[in-house]
Amino acid sequence: MEFFDVINTRKTIRKYKQEIPPLSDIKKIVDAGRLAPSATNNQNWKFIAVYNPELKQKMTDAVVDRFKEIQCLVKDETDNQRLNGYRYYSMFFKDAPVVIVVIEKSRKSTIMSILEKNGITGKELKKYNNRSSILSMGAAVENMTLAAHALGYGSCWMCAPIIAKEKFKEIFELGESERVVSLLAIGYPQDSTPPAPPKKSMEEVFEVRL
Ligand SMILES: Cc1cc2nc3c(=O)[nH]c(=O)nc-3n(C[C@H](O)[C@H](O)[C@H](O)COP(=O)(O)O)c2cc1C
Repeated sequence: MEFFDVINTRKTIRKYKQEIPPLSDIKKIVDAGRLAPSATNNQNWKFIAVYNPELKQKMTDAVVDRFKEIQCLVKDETDNQRLNGYRYYSMFFKDAPVVIVVIEKSRKSTIMSILEKNGITGKELKKYNNRSSILSMGAAVENMTLAAHALGYGSCWMCAPIIAKEKFKEIFELGESERVVSLLAIGYPQDSTPPAPPKKSMEEVFEVRL
C-alpha cells in the first residue's frame, strides 16, 4: 500500500475474524515499532505478543476486577451507567487473535536526571518533565498500527485496560522499572466494519505563522 493510502485508510478495528495471524506478520508489525523514533534514541520499550487464550483471560479478569473496584467507588447512578458503557472498550481484546503488550522501561530524561542529581525533587522537578518517554512509546504503537493496516490487519490501540497495570506487571513478571502502557489488539477485520470516525478539518487544527 502506498504510504499516504495507509495513513488515509487506517481506522480502529475492534471486531476480528477468528483466523490467527502468523507470527511472521506479527514480527513485521513489532519490527515497525522497534524502528520508531525515541527520545535520545533510548528505545525504552519491550513488546510481548500474546496469542495464548488463558493469558488473555487472565488479563481480562484483571480488568474486570479493577472495574468492580471502581464501581464500588462510584456512587452516582449516571456515572455507573457511563462506566458500564466504557467496559466494552476495555475488554474486547480478549477476543482479538493477538494482543501486543507494550511495555515501557522507565527512564528519566537527561534534564530530569541532571536536575535530580542537583537536589531538585517533587513538584519543582515535575515542572521540567517533557514526558518524552511516554511519547516515544506512542511513536512505537503508531508505527505498529500503520504496519498492521498495511499488512491487511485491523488493530486497536488500547489504554483503557491499563487500569489493571499492577496485575499486568505480575502476569508478565515485569521488572521494577517496567510497566505496561498500552495493548494493541490485532486480527483480520470482520467483513463489515464501522465507518471511520469523523476527523477535525485542517482549518480546525492547523495554522501557519509566516
Ligand atoms: C492512546 C490511545 C488509547 C486508546 N485506548 C482505547 C481503548 O482503550 N479502547 C478502545 O476501544 N479504543 C481505544 N483507542 C482508540 C480510539 O478510540 C480511536 O483511535 C479513536 O476513536 C479514533 O478512531 P480511529 O483510530 O479509527 O481514527 C485509543 C487510541 C489511542 C490513540
